[in-house]
Amino acid sequence: KYLEEDDITQDCESLISTLAKDQGWVLSHLYQYQGFWHPSRQLEGVITCQRHFQARDTDIILTTSPKCGTTWLKALAYVVVNRKTNTPTIGATGNNKQNHPLVTNNPHELVPFLELKVYVDHQVPDLTQMPSPRLFSTHLPVDSLPLSIKETGCKVVYLGRDPKDAFISLWHFANKLRPPHGGKISLEEAFDKFCKGVSLCGPFWDHVLSYWNYSLDNPNTVFFLKYEDLKHQPKLHLKKLAEFWGCPFSLEEENNGVVDDILSLCSFEILSNFEVNKFGKLSSGEDNKAFFRKGQVGDSANYLTKEMIHKFDQISLTKFHLSGLNF
Ligand code: A3P
Repeated sequence: KYLEEDDITQDCESLISTLAKDQGWVLSHLYQYQGFWHPSRQLEGVITCQRHFQARDTDIILTTSPKCGTTWLKALAYVVVNRKTNTPTIGATGNNKQNHPLVTNNPHELVPFLELKVYVDHQVPDLTQMPSPRLFSTHLPVDSLPLSIKETGCKVVYLGRDPKDAFISLWHFANKLRPPHGGKISLEEAFDKFCKGVSLCGPFWDHVLSYWNYSLDNPNTVFFLKYEDLKHQPKLHLKKLAEFWGCPFSLEEENNGVVDDILSLCSFEILSNFEVNKFGKLSSGEDNKAFFRKGQVGDSANYLTKEMIHKFDQISLTKFHLSGLNF
């Protein structure tokens, strides 16, 4: 539903009328705002959160491009930060998995998007009573972040992903969101749009580069991580994340298998099989299961032609040239 055009304020409507517009991947249009493409309903959330969100030093903000592992990162952050109140034991060693909030709530409900949930539909909620650390997420690029995020010492984590895998994931996702009468968007059409930058919160390359540079400039408050690295060395990176968030694992916790338990609870296999994620829906209307597909590295190789891969790699080379960033 958040990709549909509906119910936007006049204020937003007059802004939208000044923006470049292109056909989106679902059925609505995308509008280019501050260099990046958004559906109208999301755009209204963007503007409201830019105006109203007041970050705190203790906030944790999870930032991603769509389909780069946001759901996974949210699950991990929520469990790590709340592990004293909600023990994450599960799997081989666990026995209280029924009690953990992640069992009955999709991670997007536990860690809300600022522009898609907190400030959507003209809402300006009072967030001052929320206990610290507050956990939020956003798909906004650096230049569009609410100023207070940049001005406070809040902890920003960016999870990036190989553009090819992110593209294939987004293509599948868009097709799941399209109503049956709309047909599918073809791989070729989506590819052309993605390469031109016309994708949800695209241009993809500019988004990831904005956070790469931001993390280099602000190493103490911005943590840049790749989906692929988290997949390959989950324990190493989860420990680094916990430290960054100010709640490092103690030796005792490590010896008691807490890190493994958290990784197990948040693993694709466990998370995607909870009833809530098989049959539930987000309050914004998407099926929770749309956020779980394969959870693998390199799946794009099963879809892209040699020419497409070549084009992707050329764009990456050009865009990331001299930045030190690669996938
Ligand atoms: P694929 O479509 O390649 O499978 P987002 O959460 O940003 O929307 O990203 C969705 C992508 O992350 C999907 O990738 C999804 O399968 C994958 N994903 C979801 N949960 C995951 C988990 N617990 N571990 C690893 N990958 C996960």
